[in-house]
Amino acid sequence: MSVRALIDQRLRTAMAACGIPAHLEPQLARASRPEFGDFQANGALAAAKQLKTKPRELAERILAQAELDGIVARAEIAGPGFINLHLADDFLARLLDDLRHTQRLCPAVEEPQRVVVDYSSPNLAKEMHVGHLRSTIIGDAVVRVLEYLGHEVIRQNHMGDWGTQFGMLIAELEDHLGAGEAPDMALADLEQFYQNAKAHFDLDAGFASRARHHVVQLQAGDPHCRALWLRFIDISIAHSEAIYRRLNVTLSHADIRPESFYNPQLEEIVTQLTDQEIVREDQGALVAFLPELADRQGNPGVVIVRKSDGGYLYATTDLAALRYRGRELGAQRILYFIDARQALHMKQMFALARKAGLVDPGLSLEHHAFGTMLGPDGKPFKTRNGGTVKLADLLEEAVARAARLVAAKDPQLIETSPEEIARKVGIGAIKYADLSKTRTHDYVFDWEAMLSFDGNTAPYLQYAYTRTQSLFRRAAALPGAVPGAIRITENAERRLALLLLEFPDILRQVAADAYPHVLCNHLYELATAFTGFYQQCPVLKAEIDAELRASRLALCDLAARTLATGLELLGIEVMAEM
Ligand code: ARG
Repeated sequence: MSVRALIDQRLRTAMAACGIPAHLEPQLARASRPEFGDFQANGALAAAKQLKTKPRELAERILAQAELDGIVARAEIAGPGFINLHLADDFLARLLDDLRHTQRLCPAVEEPQRVVVDYSSPNLAKEMHVGHLRSTIIGDAVVRVLEYLGHEVIRQNHMGDWGTQFGMLIAELEDHLGAGEAPDMALADLEQFYQNAKAHFDLDAGFASRARHHVVQLQAGDPHCRALWLRFIDISIAHSEAIYRRLNVTLSHADIRPESFYNPQLEEIVTQLTDQEIVREDQGALVAFLPELADRQGNPGVVIVRKSDGGYLYATTDLAALRYRGRELGAQRILYFIDARQALHMKQMFALARKAGLVDPGLSLEHHAFGTMLGPDGKPFKTRNGGTVKLADLLEEAVARAARLVAAKDPQLIETSPEEIARKVGIGAIKYADLSKTRTHDYVFDWEAMLSFDGNTAPYLQYAYTRTQSLFRRAAALPGAVPGAIRITENAERRLALLLLEFPDILRQVAADAYPHVLCNHLYELATAFTGFYQQCPVLKAEIDAELRASRLALCDLAARTLATGLELLGIEVMAEM
């Protein structure tokens, strides 16, 4: 159990003994200032109001009841009835020693869940662009945290490989191959290929009608169309997978369950919705009207599940996917990492799936939306001439910029190549810049800020980690300089200790709310506390006695492990030096 959870539990027991109803919480939080101790509990105020007693007196009674011996060195009541708690140094030291001797920095959850996570999910018609970056890296960070806590995660890469656009792409490919071109060559630049197909579709009526016919043929399973489509899909998937590798994202080929997978189920879904009278015909289309999602004027929410030409839609596929994930995959929670602009769509899907009983009532359906990545002008991120920024180009630039940065620092490297550092710093910087922003907000993409060695950035954290490693390299040269039992003597050690012990609380919070910036902020605080410790508490100096040196080496070791683990959970790599 984490320190916070332990104290929280003791306070709850004490509050119950004081006759306070269980829904009133201790409201335990980290102390807002060092002089207030380590934790403060503000729950006595609300409880006193409810019980109509004096808050200070109630706080006194709670404290008298609370079994905090050995945990808290000093407790006091402040202001109107805040309980300030100063933890005992030897208690912290003991917990840290325990932590140091376990493999995991956070115990596994007692009740692991099966969690389906839908993320990345690019459209294969085009090359992956910056719009898919956020889903890919935020989703991957949350997935890693869930797995670290012991949950069973099933990744679902809901790639867009179906729909009318593919008729046009098949027609284009047909023309290229007919002219003797090899598929790999024709599709080397997917973005350009798409633009060409679109131009032909818009300007050439013959091409357009062939494209439309190909859509029908593809859906009917025509072998020629299917073969061309498969060629296209394979190459497009390979593009995405190259990006996943570059980005150090854990999505594998087996996680792809694209839209086409659900195609055979769509008719059945629509029939069920019709039988249940959830959808009805409206101007030839099949439409669900959802009064529960009515707008301000009282018009019901509208979802089309089959067009008048008989074609199914993105929404129909998502309903089939919801059913599949609940029934076949046995999900207890389904997490969607999709742009905030699809919030209404997701709301409609969840409402419809529940109404139609496609999912069990107990299944948790969660759309974790995110804002848009903006350019320096505050508008959605674009190239200089207004095109979409290809992800591959962006990542290449990040690594090139990081390489220049490393070269300018001219570090004396012993075991790491400059290329490795540039790759880890460049990719880490892009990912961290995104993950460290509150997911729901838009943010401005800024090379200078993300590659800075100061502030809440990947390079800063990676650098803090390399300091621990250089310290250990120096320690290795000193006989007997090995980590040992921890004791807390200085404030800088205390501060570090508390943050190290808070790590499990942070991970659980990320698993629950899917906000990775909470982990980023914590790691930043930890790196800053480590830097303070490093400056104020000598470790290897000759005047430090062997026991203190062992204790400080142990703190360094835990700090290093926590930083490396935290960054790894964000999908960011560390290195021994930079
Ligand atoms: N392919 C979609 C897009 O690029 C995202 C899919 C998200 N997942 C889902 N189940 N709808 O906008």
